[in-house]
Amino acid sequence: TVRALNPLRQTVAALRSAAKEGAKLALVPTMGALHEGHLTLAREAKAKADLVAVSIFVNPRQFGAGEDLDAYPRQLERDSGLLEAEGVDLLWAPEPTAMYPEGYATNISVSGVSAGLCGADRPGHFDGVATVVNKLFNQVRPDMAFFGEKDWQQLAVIRRMARDLDLMLPRVDAIHGVPIVREADGLAMSSRNAYLSPEQREAAAALPRAMIAAIARIAAGDPAEAALVELRESVLGAGFASIDYAELRDADSIERLDGPNANARLFVAARIGGTRLIDNMAV
Ligand code: PAJ
Repeated sequence: TVRALNPLRQTVAALRSAAKEGAKLALVPTMGALHEGHLTLAREAKAKADLVAVSIFVNPRQFGAGEDLDAYPRQLERDSGLLEAEGVDLLWAPEPTAMYPEGYATNISVSGVSAGLCGADRPGHFDGVATVVNKLFNQVRPDMAFFGEKDWQQLAVIRRMARDLDLMLPRVDAIHGVPIVREADGLAMSSRNAYLSPEQREAAAALPRAMIAAIARIAAGDPAEAALVELRESVLGAGFASIDYAELRDADSIERLDGPNANARLFVAARIGGTRLIDNMAV
């Protein structure tokens, strides 16, 4: 399904032919249930490109067994209105059967950067992401694409894939990362925040607060291990059920670090009720 937001840009084909006249086309891939984080990506894209396409596709291949594929919020009409108000040129919302027709058999797997963190907790997740993003790039053929730093490891996987598979040549800087957009209390915006009860939503702000406190301790010279122990205690104490990981890693290679360095980043995934929240910050 192609939904034209701007009557002048009816289809991806029309968008591509406009792009051929020298216009730069940007793609913002999303799974919908749009919030200010997604809309910030669209605004950044509009600032850097002539034409902006946003894709909405809840990609079954990146959800594991027992994950929230069925529960994931779907609000295409509302999302369409938000994108139209932002002046987005095209909403690309393919059907799952069109994306993965009968007999579909191809998988893209990026090693290295997809190891550890969410790659360890969600086996196959980054294969699903890499595969669908590759397909979206082939369908829309953008000159550049925008991703949020909210999903930092995902951004690293996509940058690696774009380099390795020569996507969007010759522009090596065609993959743009956009800083995390946060709620007033510091919680990173996420479509999954809609799963939180009012009490859980209030407690969830303890996650970024504990991360800021841990980074302050590390900056003051305390051992990272002690700062991360305190982070775990305060997150669990605030009402989170469990912590999937709380680690320092290299921002580019995603390799594990024992202590801080100039390229270190703190990555955390934690569960509150049944909801898994992730966040990351520079150390
Ligand atoms: P989704 O979770 O919908 O996110 C779409 C894009 O918005 C991603 O690049 C994500 O990092 C970015 N984003 C989400 N919340 C953000 C925030 N608070 N601040 C800044 N950016 C934010 O990520 C996916 O979908 C999918 O994995 C996808 C790349 C579309 C492939 O299916």
